[in-house]
Parts: sequence; structure tokens; C-alpha cells
Amino acid sequence: MIAIGADHGGYKLKEEIKKYLEEQEIEYKDFGTYSEERTDYPIYAEQVAKAVQSKEYEKGILVCGTGFGMSIFANKFKGIRCASCWNEEVAKLLKAHNDANIIALPGRFINISQAVVILRAWLAAEFMGGRHTERLQMIEEIEKKNMK
Ligand code: RB5
Repeated sequence: MIAIGADHGGYKLKEEIKKYLEEQEIEYKDFGTYSEERTDYPIYAEQVAKAVQSKEYEKGILVCGTGFGMSIFANKFKGIRCASCWNEEVAKLLKAHNDANIIALPGRFINISQAVVILRAWLAAEFMGGRHTERLQMIEEIEKKNMK
């Protein structure tokens, strides 16, 4: 089950992504925004990050203009690993090396065809483990130290 959210910069792409998820019979919950009216990306990043952090949702998709604001905000939540992705290869690596549980997409810089390629790669990829596990442990340690 996927949690999805966007601000006004990502609204249109989010709507198209929802159609793709429906075609693929992938279940999701849309946390908003629900129109192109100007809003603030932290509102939606918080809801999606909490949904994934609580493990109620396995993965999250966030869309804003660049994917940057969303990922910066989402990464303030312990256990969340999120980054903005713009092509298939980086999407694959985001899962394989970083075990990202949320992907952020730049709604103003990619179209739905590109988004589908990126999402397909990220959803199908598997975490490689090995040396990357040690790096994730280092992330956990710094979270324990720096986050409540
Ligand atoms: C909104 O104008 C824009 O700043 C936002 O969508 C996002 O790109 C922020 O990182």
C-alpha cells in the first residue's frame, strides 16, 4: 500500500500517477493536495512521512515542483529515507543502495511517461544489502543521536 501526496507544483503529476497505480492495481491513499491552488509542501510531506514511518503504508510517493522540498521535509522523520529522482537509473539505485521508503518526484521537470519509468524501476528494485546495510546502520545511529 502506497501513501501519495503532492503540493500545487506536483498536483497534476500526482493525478496522473494515481491513474497509473490504478491500472497496475497498486493500492494507494491520496493525502492531498486536491487542487492546483497554492499550498505548502510540508503539509503533505508530513502526512506521507508519518504514514510510512508508522508502517501503516509500505512506501510513499511525494511530488512537488522539484522534489527537493518534499524530500528535505520527509527526511526529518526518523526512519524515513527519501530523495528526489529524475531518471530510471537513480530510481533503481535509490532502492538498491539506500533502501528508500519514499520517492520524491519533480512535477515541474518530468512528465507522466518519465514518472512511470521511474516508479516502475523504484518499485521493482530490491535493496542490495552488504556494504549498504552498514551505511544504513550509520544513518540509524545518527538518527538516534540527533533525533528524539
Ligand atoms: C512551490 O512553488 C515549490 O517551491 C515546491 O513545489 C517545491 O519545488 C519545493 O521544493
